[in-house]
Amino acid sequence: MTPDRRLAGLEDRARLRLPAPVFEYVAQGARDGHTTAAAPGSWRQWPLHPHVLRDVTRVDPGTVVLGRTTAVPFGVAPTTLQRAIHPDGELAIARAVAAADGLMVVSSNAGTTFADLATTGVRWWVQCYLPADRTLALPLLRRAVEAGADAVVLTVDTPVVGTKYSTDPQGTVIWDVVDPSMLRVNFDPGYDDAPGSEKALDLGPHDIDWLRSTTGLPVVVKGVLRGDDAVRAVDAGASAVWVSNHGGRQLDGAVSTASALPGVVAAVHGRAQVYVDGGIRTGIDVVTALALGADHVFLGRLPLWALVDGEHGVRETLSELRDQTLETLRLTGAATVPDTRGLVVVEGAKGL
Ligand SMILES: Cc1cc2nc3c(=O)[nH]c(=O)nc-3n(C[C@H](O)[C@H](O)[C@H](O)COP(=O)(O)O)c2cc1C
Repeated sequence: MTPDRRLAGLEDRARLRLPAPVFEYVAQGARDGHTTAAAPGSWRQWPLHPHVLRDVTRVDPGTVVLGRTTAVPFGVAPTTLQRAIHPDGELAIARAVAAADGLMVVSSNAGTTFADLATTGVRWWVQCYLPADRTLALPLLRRAVEAGADAVVLTVDTPVVGTKYSTDPQGTVIWDVVDPSMLRVNFDPGYDDAPGSEKALDLGPHDIDWLRSTTGLPVVVKGVLRGDDAVRAVDAGASAVWVSNHGGRQLDGAVSTASALPGVVAAVHGRAQVYVDGGIRTGIDVVTALALGADHVFLGRLPLWALVDGEHGVRETLSELRDQTLETLRLTGAATVPDTRGLVVVEGAKGL
């Protein structure tokens, strides 16, 4: 099989190898799954207008993310339950990302301690949700800062968890089969029973400033789909906004990130960085997102499917995606990421 086709086949391999509830947990979207299903093809709504007669002898796919260069323009998005896919879980992904000189965002629900993760030497950010009683978030944030997190990613699209349906005839869901020690190891014991530990329903721009001053880290706001919200986040002190619909796992019917990205980029107008995830499965998707103005691109399910083969599988996948990205850059006449701007024609992105 050619390398490119292998990436496309990762999900099918994972379906065969993983216990059914684990596969379903990763693959599923909220409700009827429309937003999840639409994502992978959505980048093709933007045809590329390649340059020719340009020197692409040397091509550099690196990007600068919050002031530091990463060797590849894609990183790993935060996802729960990596240890249910492979016993090495987050550690396998971290080692593979470190080898690619990339960036990993670690879910607050991770099953690996931040201190253990830091031993891999990976550059990493911590992702968090804020609870109704904000002070309950402090111990986890403190552990992340102490272990060397570079930034904090506040996920803002989850005031409640979007409903998902099980297709298992017996109704077995992931939580029936997963060992609870595989997740949430960075929280204080008893966190979930503490009054006020439920997700905040009153999240607002002031939380961005609170998070920044509490942690001393730059704040990235994840789950933005509208230009006006992106501006509110930036006005409140966000260093970056992350265009995401949570892989379609929250609001089914939400706009694709491929459609939302140009409006957010236009509204932010260079005042902060803009990242994106959602349905990124090929190097062509990566370059299309960069061409639309994303400063970095994140991968959710792709590294999870690859994790079935542990660190080796993730390394291979990241390396193939890098190769595809390099080929696409050459074929579009772009020697660097800034050269990709203008490869896609966007009419009248107004910030919504
Ligand atoms: C199994 C799974 C678990 C996830 N867990 C989290 C999480 O803990 N925090 C978060 O902000 N996003 C979470 N996400 C959303 C991802 O960070 C990302 O936004 C999404 O997966 C991107 O879409 P893609 O899977 O099509 O690449 C999760 C996604 C999946 C598939």
